[in-house]
Amino acid sequence: MKALIIGGKGQLGTTLTQTAPEAIEYRSLDLPEIDITDADAIGAVVGDEAPDVIINASAYTAVDRAEEEVDLAYAVNANGPENIALAAKKAGARLVHVSTDYVFDGTACTPYPPEAPCSPLGVYGKSKRQGEINVLDAVEDAVIFRTSWLYSQYGNNFVLTMLRLINERDELKVVADQVGGPTWAATLAAAIWTIVGKTNLKGIYHWSDAGVTSWYDFAVAIQEEALARGMIGKPIPIHPITTAEYPTLTTRPAYSALNCSASWRDLGLDPTQWRVALRRMLDQLKV
Ligand SMILES: NC(=O)c1ccc[n+]([C@@H]2O[C@H](COP(=O)([O-])OP(=O)(O)OC[C@H]3O[C@@H](n4cnc5c(N)ncnc54)[C@H](OP(=O)(O)O)[C@@H]3O)[C@@H](O)[C@H]2O)c1
Repeated sequence: MKALIIGGKGQLGTTLTQTAPEAIEYRSLDLPEIDITDADAIGAVVGDEAPDVIINASAYTAVDRAEEEVDLAYAVNANGPENIALAAKKAGARLVHVSTDYVFDGTACTPYPPEAPCSPLGVYGKSKRQGEINVLDAVEDAVIFRTSWLYSQYGNNFVLTMLRLINERDELKVVADQVGGPTWAATLAAAIWTIVGKTNLKGIYHWSDAGVTSWYDFAVAIQEEALARGMIGKPIPIHPITTAEYPTLTTRPAYSALNCSASWRDLGLDPTQWRVALRRMLDQLKV
């Protein structure tokens, strides 16, 4: 089977290239070789590569900056996936697209199932939701994985930022009233490769590591686990603060945990508790 990974230099894309099953021949593309906002370029590359499956791991992921770069966020997160979907349809390739917990408004108090109504709060979430709609309109049997609080050994993410700040600062303040599900890119990549092998599955799936936490509790766990591994010099005080005390350009959902039961059932995968996944990521980062 031949897979085309788009966004292959991002944190999920890098993880996908490093975990691709041996039976899958893959090609990985990203900016500047391919720009998903260019429909002709996407059509040409998909035509040339003739993949069996396309995995779209590319996105505009600057959640706050999206409020100021609205056109670019929509071009990449809404029009880009539509371009890929139309090219996939023409080439007869299956499409696995990745979306976000930020399609929800965070007013729930139990994990969101895939069929829960979407009501994104900011430009990033709205553009990603439009991308989902565009993909499903273009390709009836597409797979969409919504994930949350993604981190990995690569790129920019909360875990790497916390490790840096703990080493640089004397104390930290972290928001404690936003709750969600951390996801190690490796567990998401494993789910994606599993669904690639299950060609009968389609529609929206949720994928995060198991359990819920706040950014504050996540930061405390990162410090504890990093300290246990000798990855930071000394622990620093980490203080819980409210969202109101840490103003940002966009409003984030207060609660965005994803109900992943259907994914665990349909993919036949066991959930990994988020702190177990964090330990595994730190072990790999340390090597
Ligand atoms: N990060 C999170 O916390 C999070 C949470 C929930 C869902 N997600 C979703 O998970 C998926 C993977 O996220 P990630 O964290 O791995 O993202 P990432 O690290 O930001 O990687 C995205 C990749 O897409 C590339 N890209 C941007 N614009 C492009 C364009 N026009 N054409 C082609 N490639 C382009 C980026 O290149 P440049 O770096 O050069 O711009 C980057 O290599 C995305 O769909 C994201 O929305 C992420």
